Amino acid sequence: MRTPLVAGNWKMNGTRASVAELMQGLAGETDGLTGVETLVCPSFVFIQQVQELIGKTSIKLGAQDLYVEAGGAFTGEISGPMLADAGCQYVLVGHSERRALMGETDEIVARKFAAAQEHGLVPVLCLGETLDERQSDATMAVISRQFLAVVETVGIEAFRNAVVAYEPVWAIGTGETASPEQAQEVHAALRALAAKRSAKIAADLRLLYGGSVKAANARELFSMPDIDGGLIGGASLQAEEFLAICQAASS
Ligand code: 13P
Repeated sequence: MRTPLVAGNWKMNGTRASVAELMQGLAGETDGLTGVETLVCPSFVFIQQVQELIGKTSIKLGAQDLYVEAGGAFTGEISGPMLADAGCQYVLVGHSERRALMGETDEIVARKFAAAQEHGLVPVLCLGETLDERQSDATMAVISRQFLAVVETVGIEAFRNAVVAYEPVWAIGTGETASPEQAQEVHAALRALAAKRSAKIAADLRLLYGGSVKAANARELFSMPDIDGGLIGGASLQAEEFLAICQAASS
């Protein structure tokens, strides 16, 4: 049984005041929801604040990135041990914005995935094709390459304790969502790819969809058999909207 996960990726947004307001809207509200896990991924500078505001509620805490090394002379970077020490349980790796804007390669993403697990964090591996790649029928090739680059580095066993998020780049922040059928097609292909290595791990692996998910389209997406929740950008910055999405994933 896969418990759906709804994760908010706040990206580079927020102030201490807006974070306090958002968390006031969320804290406690998710506790009554059954059959869904809720996660928020604030900017590094807000992690401690959010950890305090989460208190004893059921919301989980994650970061948006980590560095491949555990510590040392890497100015400006944040390590897995630091995130674990700050109370994070999850960390996003390979978000398309980092791949496209920060030049993260499949190899770096695989190393980050391994570093996360080494320090007790659950990696949320993000992957997805660009519009050009979709239009040239390269979607499956791109998804397979991104996924297998990690599988070949860490082994399929590592996916026992990981999450994968399919985020088509053309659907991120554009208001254009993949249709439930389009998303399901990729999710099913990803699960089949994992199943070639281990049927059991594939069956238990949570596959999230991300890209313009909002309250209005969440239920339809989450009703697909291989979509186990969502990775939410813009809509996760509004408490009511994010809660409605969590509600849509709950049983
Ligand atoms: P949007 O929900 O704003 O499209 O962003 C999706 C995303 O990139 C989450 O990681």
